[in-house]
Amino acid sequence: METPLITARNVSYSYKNGDEVTVGVQDLSLDVNRGEFCVILGHNGSGKSTFAKLLNGFLLPDEGEIFVDGVDTKDEQRVYDIRSKVGMVFQNPDNQMVASIIEDDVAFGPENLGVPREEIIQRVDAALNAVNMTEYRTRTPHKLSGGQKQRVAIAAILAMRPSVLILDESTAMLDPEGRREVLDVVRRLNREDGVTVILITHYMDEAVGADRVFVFDKGRCILRGTPREVFSETDTIRATKLELPVATSVSADLSAAGYDVPLCLTDEELCEAICKLS
Ligand SMILES: Nc1ncnc2c1ncn2[C@@H]1O[C@H](COP(=O)(O)OP(=O)(O)O)[C@@H](O)[C@H]1O
Ligand SMILES: [Mg+2]
Repeated sequence: METPLITARNVSYSYKNGDEVTVGVQDLSLDVNRGEFCVILGHNGSGKSTFAKLLNGFLLPDEGEIFVDGVDTKDEQRVYDIRSKVGMVFQNPDNQMVASIIEDDVAFGPENLGVPREEIIQRVDAALNAVNMTEYRTRTPHKLSGGQKQRVAIAAILAMRPSVLILDESTAMLDPEGRREVLDVVRRLNREDGVTVILITHYMDEAVGADRVFVFDKGRCILRGTPREVFSETDTIRATKLELPVATSVSADLSAAGYDVPLCLTDEELCEAICKLS
């Protein structure tokens, strides 16, 4: 079997401020395969961002180890390598723009990597095309909508040709339209271009189409599996105060009330199940 793109083995990390120690993640083990679309769910403070920062070597494990594309994040000679393999898109689109023209912003990463001029042009073209922002290339980012800004931020990461794209609550500040735009782009990049994606979110509905879902709680991964496997654990999910997708919640309640309804992930499935009741 092919080795996973990302392997985390018994990873623990705590933040230390003077005498105060705060657990970030605890004894976390998980793999992400090449080409997978993984979603990490969890409440505020459950360790999602800490895990993301451990993946790109911004933080190093206190215990355990992390390999990205075969490279140990603790390998000091490969720090640069790890950073370019793990592309991160953050929550606030306004903090991610470095240039006043969109195409310059997207070119910034590969320029820093020392990519030759000709290839930079190709990469910028491809990246802007991949996020449907080609027509905006010579404009200024400031006037874009939140969803458009996040798509430019994704293009800027893609231009560095990362092995994995991590989106850390990148849809949290967007309106529903912007959220949908960004998710559509990310899903297409995964499906058509084979980009490995780790999507961190607290919107349960964003997890429905994922290959695999990990639920974090208090720095640990408490549930993992396909969305259907994970959302079947309705009691555990409700106990962590995460909200199930509406269709899942309604179908679980109907089933608990004695109706013959299977667990549904989407509104379509729920409609079909209810229509079959007679
Ligand atoms: N820079 C920091 N200093 C101290 N504690 C931190 C810091 N960043 C995060 N934490 C703590 O680590 C825990 C995990 O946080 P985080 O990984 O940011 O969770 P999430 O991204 O799931 O909201 C929380 O208890 C949080 O308060
Ligand atoms: Mg976070």
